[in-house]
Amino acid sequence: MKRIGVLTSGGDAPGMNACIRAIVRSAALRRIDVVGIRRGYAGLIKGDMISLGPRRVGHILERGGTFLDSSRSPEMRTPEGLRKAINTLQEKAIEGLITIGGDGTFRGAVALAEMGGVKIVGIPGTIDNDVFGSDYTIGFDTAINTALQSIDKIRDTADSLEMLFFVEVMGRTRGFIALAVGIAGGASEILIPETETNIIALVQRLQKRFLKRGGQQGALIIVAEGDTPGGAKAIAEKVGDLMKLDYRVVSLGHVQRGGSPTARDRILASKLGVAAVSGLLEEKHGCMVGEIGSEIVYTPLEDTWTKVKELDASLLRLPHILTI
Ligand code: F6P
Repeated sequence: MKRIGVLTSGGDAPGMNACIRAIVRSAALRRIDVVGIRRGYAGLIKGDMISLGPRRVGHILERGGTFLDSSRSPEMRTPEGLRKAINTLQEKAIEGLITIGGDGTFRGAVALAEMGGVKIVGIPGTIDNDVFGSDYTIGFDTAINTALQSIDKIRDTADSLEMLFFVEVMGRTRGFIALAVGIAGGASEILIPETETNIIALVQRLQKRFLKRGGQQGALIIVAEGDTPGGAKAIAEKVGDLMKLDYRVVSLGHVQRGGSPTARDRILASKLGVAAVSGLLEEKHGCMVGEIGSEIVYTPLEDTWTKVKELDASLLRLPHILTI
């Protein structure tokens, strides 16, 4: 292989830049040229790309976002879009492609492989951690630490005013972020889509707790955005009505996606970037490279979204034990 392409697609995630750096520099050591495709599949369709040498990726390791830019491309879901993308790869003599993103990115990769025989290795880059085939995705660790900083601040107000706070975090349809920040942030309750949310039981637990402590206390309830239609606001309204309490709702939103990656994310991104280049050379095409335990593992791309990554829902008991 003489020339490969790299793109980031879908939501940006901290650590994507560290991953691009690892790909470019490990490829250079193997005398492979790397082309950076801008704005994900949209850039691939348009042929929007830049040449990436080892020096070009200096000082990006510590930067959030993705310096190649990203997008969600509806055109990639059409045969016409796919044909254009394949043409670009052929015209530019790009023999292999590394795609960094989540399940939408991998679906696009599989479509390209099926239609044009493109040799692709995927790398999981999303704050949601919802990809089968890797214990952690690039960006998750930074996102939970960023969310935690805000949650710690909200707790100051919750405690000072003995106020109930409902804090909505991202995660799409999964509760990985909520579970992690709920435990780390000392939340009283964590509501995630993987388990049914029983408002009556939740109200009873809070009432019991307040009774035991001789009155209303400040409390944090972490709600995963995918838990209930209407999100944290809808849940807060129901709980507030039943308990006749004043409450506040905070949605942390996109602050969770930004910022300089943590050491953990930089290390994971560096390992997976190097392993993706090896994967292309070792013909592990059509796979995503991930880390399970401390092993580098290649998982067929289809499995990354058809198989469900387990979440340890038994951890939801921790807040009930630890916030007595
Ligand atoms: O997949 C990352 C993510 O931040 C999810 O947690 C969230 O549901 C979604 O992207 C938000 O997407 P957008 O940036 O398009 O609003």
